[in-house]
Amino acid sequence: MPAGTATPRRKYEEILLLRYLAGLGADRSPAVLSSREVGVHLGVSQQAADRYLLALARDGFLERSLGGRKQSLTLKASGLDLLRREYHDLRRLFEGPARLRFTGSVVSGLGEGRYYLAQPGYTVQFAERLGYTPYPGTLNIQPGPPDLLRVSAVKDWKGLRIDGFSAAGRTFGGATCHAARLGGRPGHLITPDRTHHTDVVEFIAPEYLRERLSLKDGDPVDVELEES
Ligand code: CDP
Repeated sequence: MPAGTATPRRKYEEILLLRYLAGLGADRSPAVLSSREVGVHLGVSQQAADRYLLALARDGFLERSLGGRKQSLTLKASGLDLLRREYHDLRRLFEGPARLRFTGSVVSGLGEGRYYLAQPGYTVQFAERLGYTPYPGTLNIQPGPPDLLRVSAVKDWKGLRIDGFSAAGRTFGGATCHAARLGGRPGHLITPDRTHHTDVVEFIAPEYLRERLSLKDGDPVDVELEES
């Protein structure tokens, strides 16, 4: 779990500009606009619009290719991610903490979870922030294909942070945890800041769940999650 970095908050006009571009479909094909047109939409001067465009392009949220007075503007994946976070904050404001239920199957990993979970730099934080010391390992669950997309939305939820640290000459990254139940047993879904898993989620719990729930690879399990 290598260390991650915090994203600074963007200006409100920049978010509005990304929203405008998304509305024009600029995530699929470029929108051709002058800085003046962008300024009119945002209610700011052409110079100010130019500054916002420049800052968003510099920080990798959009791609800008200049040609005469107009420019081609393409929304990049990180620009869409920024909008998704805004959407999630508003959705939470109006609808309350998000919840999710899905069914997945138990799978084996590479056996690395046991090593990470046993690090004192993590166990101290788990005890303090989650209220228990997890069984040393992560139970890997593969959500069914229809649920994968819904489960990936959890990355935008507010969660309990576990910070990265250095020990014995190496770096251990941070992670985010979400309170959850697996087969009715309490624990947390844990998402390392960087992971090679794309189709598997990892679950930690006070108990050795394979024994507690008589689970073997391929068995279906129900997972319930709630945003912190
Ligand atoms: O990489 P893998 O998930 O296979 O192994 P691990 O993270 O080192 O965890 C060791 C074993 O304990 C695996 O078989 C996990 O599925 C299992 N486990 C469990 O049953 N209950 C937990 N709360 C955590 C891990």
